[in-house]
Amino acid sequence: MDLVSEARGATKVILEERQGEVFAETASVPGLRKFYIESYGCQMNFSDSEIVASILANEGYTPTTDLQEAELVFLNTCSIREKAEETIRHRLVHFGAMKRKNPKMTIGILGCMAERLKKVLMEENQLVDLVVGPDAYRDLPKLITRTDDGERAINVLLSREETYGDISPVRLESNGISAFISIMRGCDNMCSFCVVPFTRGRERSRDVHSILAEAVDLQTRGFKEITLLGQNVDSYKWQEADQNVNFAQLLEQVAIAAPHMRIRFSTSHPKDITDDVLYTMARHDNICKYIHLPIQSGSSRILDLMNRTYDREWYMEKVRRIYEIMPECAISSDIITGFCSETEEDHADSLSIIEFGQYTMSYMFAYSERPGTQAARKYADDVPLEVKNRRLSEIIVKQRDISHELNKKDIGTICEILVEGESKKRRDQLKGRNSQNKMVVIDKTASVQPGDLVQVLITDCTSATLIGEIVNA
Ligand code: 5AD
Ligand code: SF4
Repeated sequence: MDLVSEARGATKVILEERQGEVFAETASVPGLRKFYIESYGCQMNFSDSEIVASILANEGYTPTTDLQEAELVFLNTCSIREKAEETIRHRLVHFGAMKRKNPKMTIGILGCMAERLKKVLMEENQLVDLVVGPDAYRDLPKLITRTDDGERAINVLLSREETYGDISPVRLESNGISAFISIMRGCDNMCSFCVVPFTRGRERSRDVHSILAEAVDLQTRGFKEITLLGQNVDSYKWQEADQNVNFAQLLEQVAIAAPHMRIRFSTSHPKDITDDVLYTMARHDNICKYIHLPIQSGSSRILDLMNRTYDREWYMEKVRRIYEIMPECAISSDIITGFCSETEEDHADSLSIIEFGQYTMSYMFAYSERPGTQAARKYADDVPLEVKNRRLSEIIVKQRDISHELNKKDIGTICEILVEGESKKRRDQLKGRNSQNKMVVIDKTASVQPGDLVQVLITDCTSATLIGEIVNA
């Protein structure tokens, strides 16, 4: 797929993180019919946009960041919370206004909202031409041809097999340093609050050979870090006649196949992460010592209603085990406030678990009822919005304090960072992450370039960032 590398070289991503929601655009290359993709939501969606870009590039389309020059405009959408869907609806109004001026523009909705709302999207908005669910991207070229003929087209079929394993993603990130590798799709967990099992379908794992090939290819192309991605990576499972590969084994194989790269993974469901995974992490220096281990709530009663399949004590034991096997490991979390029937006592349990877990950071959300989920069907969304938001603020303050305390403890220590590029806030500084996924900023020097691994002495910090000095320049 040479078109792929060609397009990759000419693309750039503008990434902006907003409290767990991420937004990106691709940048332009001169060429044939041009497409523009805007992605929302989780990393999986960003990874999917790279698959879509690859499928389109293979058909002779080229990416652009200039909405004005795009003939095909895609929104890769997220349904996880109502607010995410609202943001996308606003964007759609903007695209619609553009289309009225330029009727040749084709508008496509991809991802979770396409799956959740299906035909409703087209009925609601006559300017939407295409609705394509997360498992139907291979069908895009055919569907686009139909829109060329003046039809409107939809494919939201979910698959039990599709992993896009054979597709080399067009890397829409320009830094050429970090890349995602999708190792599985879908989710079978059925957490009662979550829409993902409905929008992304059943869990399936990608074949181990294509994952390893992609890791080696990225290393050859000079990438320095990969993140193995899936809704629930620890339940990765690949079976072949003579081979059974679980997540611990996959992780080890990737670490060995790409020894010059840093390996990360996300997301881990606490019920599935095994000692084997922890020992594998401990054994390999190139596997980063960082686990995203969402608790969701600190209350056993709420965890039961959430159908998380563990309770507070069980989770605490898992955290103890992680720190026992890897004392230097960092843990982060996701926390929802104001889930159905949550009391002040339950909320206090969530506050205290942040302290117990010593999370370096958390993604924190107010509960948003999603139609069709088990919680929406079985439980009343009975915590008033002001209470959800007040609890959310308290959780945020607590997490900020813990993050700050942990960062202060790092002052005076030396860590290795992978330099990613210029700091967002100061052009005379570079930023990079350490193994624990903490952001570190250092002053720029001529000898250090993005992609370099450097030893840094931590001299100061805020709650979100470590500030350091290079010690081996
Ligand atoms: N309301 C609020 N937050 C949610 N999440 C998932 N579903 C919902 C919802 N209905 C959060 C969970 C999950 C993260 C990706 O989003 O914390 O881990
Ligand atoms: Fe949603 Fe739970 Fe699956 Fe995560 S593990 S995607 S929260 S159902």
